[in-house]
Amino acid sequence: MFEDAKLLPPDPILGLSKLFQDDPRSEKIDLGVGVYRDLNGRTPVMKAVAKAETNVTAAQTTKAYTPVDGAPGFGPAILDLVFGADSPILSAGRAAAVQTPGGCGALRLAGELLNSQGAASLTLGAPTWPNHIPLLSAAGLKINSIPYYDRDANAVDFEAFKAGAAKLGPKDVLLLHGCCHNPTGADLSPAQIDEIAAMAAAQGFLPLVDTAYHGFAKDLDTDVYMIRKFSAELPEVLITYSCSKNFGLYRERTGALIIVGASADRALAVKSQATSLARKNYSMPPAHGGAIVAEILGDPALSALWREELSEMADRVRGNRRLLAQTAQDFGLHNRLSFIADQAGMFSLLPLTEDQIGALRDQHGVYVVGGGRINLCGVNETNVKHLISSFKAVTEA
Ligand code: LMR
Repeated sequence: MFEDAKLLPPDPILGLSKLFQDDPRSEKIDLGVGVYRDLNGRTPVMKAVAKAETNVTAAQTTKAYTPVDGAPGFGPAILDLVFGADSPILSAGRAAAVQTPGGCGALRLAGELLNSQGAASLTLGAPTWPNHIPLLSAAGLKINSIPYYDRDANAVDFEAFKAGAAKLGPKDVLLLHGCCHNPTGADLSPAQIDEIAAMAAAQGFLPLVDTAYHGFAKDLDTDVYMIRKFSAELPEVLITYSCSKNFGLYRERTGALIIVGASADRALAVKSQATSLARKNYSMPPAHGGAIVAEILGDPALSALWREELSEMADRVRGNRRLLAQTAQDFGLHNRLSFIADQAGMFSLLPLTEDQIGALRDQHGVYVVGGGRINLCGVNETNVKHLISSFKAVTEA
């Protein structure tokens, strides 16, 4: 069977973490995988999560199966968080949630659902998260790429993105990043989101809004502007949601596929298609992370603590953006990296060639994802000078 199976190269993001761990240099800097890190470079368990976990474990009387749509209470809690508890979308029953094994599981389930319903293509803006294309292709979708980001301007190329989206029609799907664009950090403005909503309404394509960093751009309400706008203006929207970063539940694999339908009946029918696909794949998601999220969101004190911790994390990343941009100025880089201070979420793209990325890693111990993506969480007062002087060295060599 496996005589001819080839050894594959490591994953471009997860493989980098392994290289970093094996690097003996003390001055090395990890700007790779998208996990939050505190001042000391640690990814702590959030206090709200630790308390919720204690409650969940204490109340647990069985390990019997959960339903296919996940831990009891998880779906309604996530819907309230995403749409707002008083949302007309929720009172009309137009939204349904299926808990999934992380954001990747949500994307894969969304891809299989779209494939099973005859989606003609899935279009995404370039560059995008490196796993989007292999993951969604593996679900059987035909992927088209359109421009999203202008690397010379370090900003969204909205005219080019719109020109690509203008070709879409019914049965086409457009993937958008809900907030904190991965890898560019450059989000659409509310006015641009409104324009895409009008195009989707006129042309009939379906938006798939991938949301993995809810709470890291501005705040929990502002960050879901795209989701709420599309859901208010369009009959159908799909949302893939991750609790990895905002609840710090990475390894618990906790996410959701959220379906907005034209009516309560449509939402339920589509949800039944999704749960049937899940049953044919992994049966049901791991319950633990979903139970923790439901416990936090269902308890006002835990919820307030979680919101406070999340906003502290987001503040720290914004502070790191300013620190990096200011240090670049201090090192005489003029405005070459000033755009980083204004972008959102964990990531930005450094203007680097692949050779320069290799030199940063090999000569300076600075680990950047291919294409130039950096995770701003890896920056701190102690390492920022080494980072900027290394950037200067490789770009001015
Ligand atoms: C990232 O983009 O680094 C994260 O979403 C982790 C991953 O799975 O790639």
